[in-house]
Amino acid sequence: MKKTARAPLDFSTPDLQFDGLKLSNLVQEIETPFYLYSEKTLKDQYQTFMNAAASANIQNPIVCFALKANPNPWLVKTLGSMGCGADTVSGGELTRALECELDPNKIVFSGVAKTQKEIAKAIKANILSINVESMEEMEMVAATAKELGIKANVALRLNPKVNVITHKHISTGNKSHKFGMLSNDARALIANKDLWQHANLVGLSIHIGSQLTDLSATAQAIREMVGVANEISTPLKFLDVGGGLGIDYAMEDESKISSPEKYMQVVAENLKGLKNHEGVATVFEPGRYIAARCGVLVTRIVRTKTSEDYRFAIVDAGMNDFARPAIYDAHHEIYPITKAQGETFKWEVVGPICETTDCFAKGRELPSLKAGDVLVIADTGAYGRSMASHYNLRDIALEYVITNKNEILKI
Ligand code: LLP
Repeated sequence: MKKTARAPLDFSTPDLQFDGLKLSNLVQEIETPFYLYSEKTLKDQYQTFMNAAASANIQNPIVCFALKANPNPWLVKTLGSMGCGADTVSGGELTRALECELDPNKIVFSGVAKTQKEIAKAIKANILSINVESMEEMEMVAATAKELGIKANVALRLNPKVNVITHKHISTGNKSHKFGMLSNDARALIANKDLWQHANLVGLSIHIGSQLTDLSATAQAIREMVGVANEISTPLKFLDVGGGLGIDYAMEDESKISSPEKYMQVVAENLKGLKNHEGVATVFEPGRYIAARCGVLVTRIVRTKTSEDYRFAIVDAGMNDFARPAIYDAHHEIYPITKAQGETFKWEVVGPICETTDCFAKGRELPSLKAGDVLVIADTGAYGRSMASHYNLRDIALEYVITNKNEILKI
């Protein structure tokens, strides 16, 4: 059974509201297409995640928001003000996290292709850890640290060889994937004393995929990490369980999706085997769960057209603004901003880009639509604006937020 959409969207009035504001009013002031975020929902998602960790008795949780999901400075600073840190994967993201004054002690730096320049920046900033993904990278980290005369904080990202149930493009925890290192390779690296003269082993990490709805692979991966941790005699500061918690994009059946509570129970249960690391912190790297719900993409229909039995609603946002449906065939709910009664039709909601994959929904049941009507594409706060491009030399949708004071800010 279909549920009605949740905050920040509210369908109780004929005009769709976002955080209590009528979108029909807003689109008279702001030119489409644009991203619109809710401060309240962003904060609620973060708080729900933290509360779930607390209720599962996770000791010392550190949330490092995956900046790739949404690196907008306003958003990053807002999360920072709540005590959140960052998972970064490039020099650019590391710079963003530092410029937004996140606590360096809550910043981790992942990624398989860190350059020497990026590694040097991370070492100098004295962040919580560089999450090293190969022996070859570790050699570069050690050499860079030696040259700088500063010890590097290192966590080893393991590849636990698990099969994850998610879209194949966002599965990262198997040996055929470029990410992390196999446990035996990590063991060999740990035993290589030369490499540790200029680095401290502060933790282990995993990240096995994104939009995870089934947690058995997560459980298995955590147990694998705990097994390696139990063989390490020096004290570790943290175990990093990565990101990946999924959301219910279709808003159909939440029971199919792992709630943060269920997720935290699985994490807590599988960390129990850890033996010799008193007071070790648990690092989380959620991106989607924190940011997806808080954002919508608001887009106007430029024109409609038909092709025998196909009806097209051609909107002013394209796959350059929002790529998830084009890349992953991702489902996002789409709503007109004014409630229409009566018959519905099957619509192809497409953008202006010269590619067939520039399509936000195929055969979607929507009411009668016409040029000038405005639609919102829901749950686009994560991997929306951050994956946008200027393809077709198009401008990219700007970003706005409705604050808790009901102000609309361009961010
Ligand atoms: N940590 C690492 C090392 C990652 O690579 C990722 C995501 C995360 C954390 C955050 O994962 P999350 O909690 O957001 O699932 N563009 C794709 C998602 C790619 C995710 C890549 N890595 C999408 O739109 O679905």
